[in-house]
Amino acid sequence: MKLKDTGLTEQDIKDKVKKYMIETYERYDFVAETAKGMYMYAPDGTAYLDFYAGIAVNGAGNCNEKVVAAVREQCGEIMQTFNYPYTIPQALLAEKICTTIGMDKVFFQNSGTESNEAMIKMARKYGVEKYGPQKYEIITAWDSFHGRTFGSMSATGQPDNACQIGFGNMTPGFVYAKFNDLDSFREKITENTVAIMVEPVQGEGGVHPATAEFMTGLRKLCDDKGLLLLLDEVQTGWCRTGAVMSFMNYGIKPDIVSMAKALGGGMPIGAICATNEAAKAFTMGSHGSTFGGHPVCCAAALAEINELLDRGCAENAKKMGDYFCAKLETLPHVKEVRHQGLFVGVEFDETLNAKDVKHGCFDRKLLVTAIGDHIIRMVPPLILEKKHCDDAYEILKQTVEAL
Ligand SMILES: Cc1ncc(COP(=O)(O)O)c(C=O)c1O
Repeated sequence: MKLKDTGLTEQDIKDKVKKYMIETYERYDFVAETAKGMYMYAPDGTAYLDFYAGIAVNGAGNCNEKVVAAVREQCGEIMQTFNYPYTIPQALLAEKICTTIGMDKVFFQNSGTESNEAMIKMARKYGVEKYGPQKYEIITAWDSFHGRTFGSMSATGQPDNACQIGFGNMTPGFVYAKFNDLDSFREKITENTVAIMVEPVQGEGGVHPATAEFMTGLRKLCDDKGLLLLLDEVQTGWCRTGAVMSFMNYGIKPDIVSMAKALGGGMPIGAICATNEAAKAFTMGSHGSTFGGHPVCCAAALAEINELLDRGCAENAKKMGDYFCAKLETLPHVKEVRHQGLFVGVEFDETLNAKDVKHGCFDRKLLVTAIGDHIIRMVPPLILEKKHCDDAYEILKQTVEAL
């Protein structure tokens, strides 16, 4: 939909949103009308360099041509079926995902939080049916973020965050331990524990990658104690971190992994992948979704994965992440630059407010996001080149110097 065809102005669009929508988002002050590759465009043609990619979504670039073509083609064939008939895109995508990341089975959902709900439900049912009614506790990490539905909210170890405040009691069955601290997780294990669940890089928690010692240690701990290892790769999955899945950076495998965001290349789809053993917990009728496995989203995801793999996006994420972050280290007021591939966080010292940096970048046509008071997160499309890193760096430098 183009603004010129509506007879409205940009201000009219903003006013309608303010009047009719329940707003929980702090918006960038522009109307995003079109997008291509590394840029988003306002109706007047102003280009914004996209270093947030719909928050780690548009891996193969905004409106990737092959993804767009797959969506257009599938829309003309069959759109929604529920999961009663077999569909071609589902079957092909399921095979592609499992064979690419070395897992046995997949279950399709629509979003990250739903995928985490499925992962939590599968682990709990596995524990209760295999060991008894109390065996459903999951240890997650403080400062984690797993989504905004009740299971995922409750798994999130951030009781002081707006995503939990005011919603009453969380769902029972979760205990929390310190991220990157193996002993802390070990101490929380009881006879009721069924699983450990973490993000390989804590994103909303401030872009903190897990150490190799922590991740390999968690795998061993789970093996020793007969627990399931659940990885939330909603934000890290599909080439962002320099490997197809972040767990591959550590040389380990989870029992269940959740994914969403980049999987669909801009279309809403999520999934969990599980080992045959864990997947047994989901029996006929025990879980389901009206839209999960939607043919159009599956066709888009298949095209996106092919693009990510064909274009070497994981390798590019590693190379460009290293290049960009070495430059970011030289910015004034930087306390720490943390990253895994192109999952980048810049923590500034206490004199710089992250929202001011975000707004300053926006004024200079660079889109980044702020986490907390002092951290900027950048998760650009994985097709980016050195020139985009250089442009973003110059804008950040000008912004920080002006503040
Ligand atoms: C690690 C992680 N898990 C889950 C979610 C929730 O995903 P969604 O917004 O698709 O429900 C997010 C979203 O930012 C995330 O970063």
